[in-house]
Amino acid sequence: MYSGSKAFFFALSRSAMLKRLASRYGLATSESFASRFIAGETIEAAIDASRRLQSQGFQITLDYLGESVMTLEAAAVATREYERMIGIIQGAGIERNISLKLTQLGIDVDRATCVDNLRRILEPAARHEFFVRIDMENSPYTERTLEIFETLWDQQYRHLGVALQAYLYRTEADVRRMNELGARVRLVKGAYKERASVAYQQNGEVNSAFVRLARVLLDEGTYPALATHDPGVIDEVRAYAAAQGIARDRFEFQMLYGIRRDLQVSLLAAGHRMRVYVPFGREWFPYFMRRLGERPANVAFVLRALAGER
Ligand code: FDA
Repeated sequence: MYSGSKAFFFALSRSAMLKRLASRYGLATSESFASRFIAGETIEAAIDASRRLQSQGFQITLDYLGESVMTLEAAAVATREYERMIGIIQGAGIERNISLKLTQLGIDVDRATCVDNLRRILEPAARHEFFVRIDMENSPYTERTLEIFETLWDQQYRHLGVALQAYLYRTEADVRRMNELGARVRLVKGAYKERASVAYQQNGEVNSAFVRLARVLLDEGTYPALATHDPGVIDEVRAYAAAQGIARDRFEFQMLYGIRRDLQVSLLAAGHRMRVYVPFGREWFPYFMRRLGERPANVAFVLRALAGER
């Protein structure tokens, strides 16, 4: 069980002071640990990482790190950065696939502005055939995220997908809701500390929910993305797809940059589609804290790196 460390790192991830310090400290100086999970601070670094991954046969999605903005100005800056990114990615000729968070676009400040910001990104994205995935944040945002998704879907933004979290009890209904639309779902276990009133607390329960929901997505969904590094869960998903005769090009696996590269390579070698989530940017601290909280062994890794060992 990792829920204790998950709660601790979730609390750290929300510390504004630590976040500011981390951005000032910079990824370059903390190269030995944070850069294992983050492709760099600039879009150029992320493009280099993406080129390397694509040349090995992986697919990619680029995530400009940032979340929980508390002013409209900060949301506008993030929106402009995504618009700029769309142009740069096009020029670079890498795969056109991006992921973003609604708290980065101002959902906490003003919902209508957040939707406008998202539309500002989706317009050039649709024109240039990008796929845009809305990440799912903690449970206070679940319903709002899905409502915004549905609004834009109704406005014919169809190169748009969402993430759903297996640990939430509500997700079974949300999977059906998205399947009815024909929307593309990325299924994840869930990265935030949630209460027992809304989410499974035991790893075994979360894993069973993931497999159950993955089956529904494979049977009835639209090109689902099964995003986990858990070999046991992946084996169950593969066995189910094979037994049902579901072709390997009807779904994809996804993993995070720098995590379980061995498994990423072996799934690719077995003929599966494998997309790597490539995060970049100066606002890496909350993302990094969630990665530490998922795996206590990472903390030892960080401490060793701080002590100068490689
Ligand atoms: P689990 O945590 O059980 O780990 C299984 C194995 O993977 C571990 O034994 C270890 O080997 C390896 N591993 C996992 N995490 C590691 C880490 N941090 N460091 C080193 N090794 C690690 N969440 C969310 O709430 N909203 C979202 O939108 C997304 N988006 C997203 C996209 C993609 C592409 C992925 C892969 C994941 C997400 N997540 C997410 C995160 C997700 O919810 C979950 O927290 C992590 O994937 C870790 O859970 P696993 O499924 O890997 O299982």
